[in-house]
Amino acid sequence: MLNDPILIRNLQLKNRLVMPPMQSDRSNHGRVTDDLTAYYHARAIGSEPGIIIVEHCCISEAGRADSGQLSIAEDGCIAEHRLLTDVVHEAGSRVFIQLNHAGNAAEPFDDGELVSASDVPALRKTLQKKPRPLTAEEIRGLEVCWAHAALRAVKAGYDGVEIHSAHGYLLDQFYSPLTNRREDEYGSGSLTNRLRFLVETVAAVREAVGDQVPVAVRLGGADYLPGGSTEEDAAEACRLLEQATVDLLDISGGMCGFVRQGHPEPGYFGTMTEKIKAVVSIPVMLTGGVTTTDEAEKLLQEGKADLIGVGRALFRDPDWRKKQSI
Ligand SMILES: Cc1cc2nc3c(=O)[nH]c(=O)nc-3n(C[C@H](O)[C@H](O)[C@H](O)COP(=O)(O)O)c2cc1C
Repeated sequence: MLNDPILIRNLQLKNRLVMPPMQSDRSNHGRVTDDLTAYYHARAIGSEPGIIIVEHCCISEAGRADSGQLSIAEDGCIAEHRLLTDVVHEAGSRVFIQLNHAGNAAEPFDDGELVSASDVPALRKTLQKKPRPLTAEEIRGLEVCWAHAALRAVKAGYDGVEIHSAHGYLLDQFYSPLTNRREDEYGSGSLTNRLRFLVETVAAVREAVGDQVPVAVRLGGADYLPGGSTEEDAAEACRLLEQATVDLLDISGGMCGFVRQGHPEPGYFGTMTEKIKAVVSIPVMLTGGVTTTDEAEKLLQEGKADLIGVGRALFRDPDWRKKQSI
């Protein structure tokens, strides 16, 4: 199964192994460096994943997560991203890019104000600075930023784009009841409202990239915290995202980040992806705790997901796959 091809919209992948997005700290003031390009090339050559999803890139400087983050916030970066996509393509893998705004978890260089769904500080930061709730007009402005970033990505040769809505960043701050206390159409407790910003972002990105380019969402489906988003929310959200023309559901954690407390097992978000797979027909990707191809194969055989992400093992060793049995 792991070596079976799969279609994401019209895009054929040679196998179901994915290198998920991971900030590598190899950029220079947000710009692509030779070191960064070589890092992705080594993993494409050494482990031949069906897709590499390039680490989260800021869609605007105000939404920058930290100084080590890569950027796709301006047209000047398109040519250097093209060098990166070229080397991955030459090595035979497909390449997506993850697009992000950090919201209340941003570290804007000008020390400007933080924005979020509500005035709740970032749950995962020690510095508890209160953000300002975005207005509906500002939300629509950011949707345009996402769309422009997606268009740059297509011009740079990426095969698909992924919208980051996990790990406590801006779109996740709208999705999670822990950080969304709004009383307008982007909140009020209902899941449809909490998902509205993301669904509108998908629509804006889709309009920008057209109907041939796959659009993925990394959804932090469940917070696993009291009062937070649940696996049931995740299933309903994914049903709505499929309706919104999303092509790939890349499932991870919400306010808990990319780990799940007390769950070291391979595929630790598998109870969530199972619920999601029961209600959608688009491909679902499961990442977390997988360190061998045998584990990946078992999760696919059990029907937990259609694609498996292997993060830290590939981060550490570009040739990881060569040392595996399958
Ligand atoms: C150093 C590092 C950087 C990461 N950066 C990102 C990122 O940019 N975007 C994202 O969605 N997840 C990021 N993650 C989470 C990974 O994509 C993945 O979900 C996580 O490592 C769990 O999978 P694993 O057990 O296979 O490593 C990062 C993880 C690590 C270890």
